[in-house]
Amino acid sequence: MVNMQELTIRRPDDWHLHLRDGAILASVLPFTARRFARAVVMPNLTPPVTTTAAALAYRERIRAALPAGADFTPLMTLYLTDSTAREEIDRAAASGAVIGCKLYPAGATTHSAAGVTDVRRLDAVFERMSERSLTLQVHGEVVDPATDIFDREALFIEQVLAPLVERHPRLHVVFEHVTTRAAVEYVCGARPGVAATVTPQHLLLNRNALFQGGIRPHLYCLPVLKREADREALRAVVAAGNPRFFLGTDSAPHARHLKEAACGCAGIFSAHAGIELYAEVFEQLGALGRLEDFAAHFGADFYGLPRNAGTLTLEKRSWSPPAAYPLSPGELVPLRAGESVAWAVRG
Ligand code: DOR
Ligand code: ZN
Repeated sequence: MVNMQELTIRRPDDWHLHLRDGAILASVLPFTARRFARAVVMPNLTPPVTTTAAALAYRERIRAALPAGADFTPLMTLYLTDSTAREEIDRAAASGAVIGCKLYPAGATTHSAAGVTDVRRLDAVFERMSERSLTLQVHGEVVDPATDIFDREALFIEQVLAPLVERHPRLHVVFEHVTTRAAVEYVCGARPGVAATVTPQHLLLNRNALFQGGIRPHLYCLPVLKREADREALRAVVAAGNPRFFLGTDSAPHARHLKEAACGCAGIFSAHAGIELYAEVFEQLGALGRLEDFAAHFGADFYGLPRNAGTLTLEKRSWSPPAAYPLSPGELVPLRAGESVAWAVRG
């Protein structure tokens, strides 16, 4: 629709989110709970959430941090390591609280040191996950430091992901935060049961943004922003309404001093505008009518969960995220800090 000023959609879900713990959790959770009915919560805490018992305890801390009256369900994940046991998969499935397991190649990103060194070692675990209907969420980058950082996702597909997907034909796999044309093409052509999440930053920005007028640590995330041709491929596939591609913000808060540093952390905080930024993208693409499918239908359908009952209304109203939100200790610089966001959530 042309000149749409208001859009009511089914309440969306965030299929990839970092909430952290303690004081940061308390600071960031209200942003997500206001917008999203559910979120897949990443397990890369320190120490990582490697057991069902730890996931259940973390879920309780999330629930305890929710604002009064919030309607929000955390969907928990386990962090796979070289020593994850099949029995842990059984416990995770039996708990009803765990939706899947996250594969971090060891050393790929923030808090991934305990991740998996060789996925073939986990074939028995993936088989058990297939049997128990737990989804595998994949951080898809090779970790070889000799590999150019812009090629890591494409090489991962060839060397790790495609063979894994074929070895485990019944395993549900989400290729998280896809950033390249190669990833789009792979997911489009993969067998049923393979899908992907897409972040706002990879739809809105290319790698030039990292260096615009100087180095921009708050736009550094992993996988790193890519070329314009890659961004175009992501935008085309979401505009087309391909059900294999759905919303996952990868909102990843780090205190300002940890990002503005000689060796700054990877992660972009976007939960404060977690649906609004996607509305901008879909409007730019002339595809606002497809936002609801991307944000509220395709992910739930892929995971075999009911679609949410409530609605959320977006208004075409420009607002300015603050320069920073308070954290204790420190502060958190959000995406678009001091700039503007074109859409706002009503109420
Ligand atoms: O940029 C990122 N930040 N990428 C990841 O994979 C992890 C995340 C985090 O936890 O900060
Ligand atoms: Zn992430």
